[in-house]
Amino acid sequence: MAGHEGARRFFNTIVYEMLAPVYDGLDWSTLGAWWRYVSRALDHVPAHRRVLEVGFGPGKLQAALARQAELCVGIDLALGMCRFTRRRLQRGGLPVRLARGSVFALPFPSGVFDTVVSTFAMSGLANEEQAVAEMARVLVPEGTLALVDIGLPLDGNRTGAFWAHLWERFGDFLYDYPALIRANALDVIVFDEFGPGKHLRTVVGKKVSASQRA
Ligand SMILES: C[S@@+](CC[C@H](N)C(=O)[O-])C[C@H]1O[C@@H](n2cnc3c(N)ncnc32)[C@H](O)[C@@H]1O
Repeated sequence: MAGHEGARRFFNTIVYEMLAPVYDGLDWSTLGAWWRYVSRALDHVPAHRRVLEVGFGPGKLQAALARQAELCVGIDLALGMCRFTRRRLQRGGLPVRLARGSVFALPFPSGVFDTVVSTFAMSGLANEEQAVAEMARVLVPEGTLALVDIGLPLDGNRTGAFWAHLWERFGDFLYDYPALIRANALDVIVFDEFGPGKHLRTVVGKKVSASQRA
């Protein structure tokens, strides 16, 4: 899997660090499809609450969240993405609450966010279990985790499998998000496949409170 690892390193060190404006152009080069996919996450983020976005990238969703949230915080590993998104928020006159850091060690106390959102970031992470555990940790009881990402279509159709494996070639991983979410004491409340061959999915988990678990 050297090619897979190399592709992931290329995205992490070159694209996300140095080419944030090019990545931002994905929306334009896909005739708006990218934003249509990413913005599906908004359907699962209640307004006027505290939200954390993990792996915000060039920040279009972060700006939309900042407009509607009581408190909107973002974290991303790439300094290039942090700088680009900071400028985007400032241009829009929006509050900037961005941290450069990793989902593997979120610099927040437990139980502080009503919603954690992440789009197309999880599939680029090699340690998916630790990432979901950290996102679950910072949620309040009954808070929600909303993911939009890639995966193999449940019905096994060839078009979807083709697209999913193409992403794999670019360094991504195909995870079973419902299983990951359940393993971290969250109930899966939404699983929606969409996009070409249904290889994209929205998965929403609700954190089960300690009394519900008992
Ligand atoms: C494919 S981009 C997705 C960007 C945006 N959310 C979107 O939907 O277009 C993945 C993002 O996750 C960030 N990222 C990678 N590893 C990370 C980590 N360990 N913790 C937080 N962010 C990370 C990258 O810097 C990049 O901005």
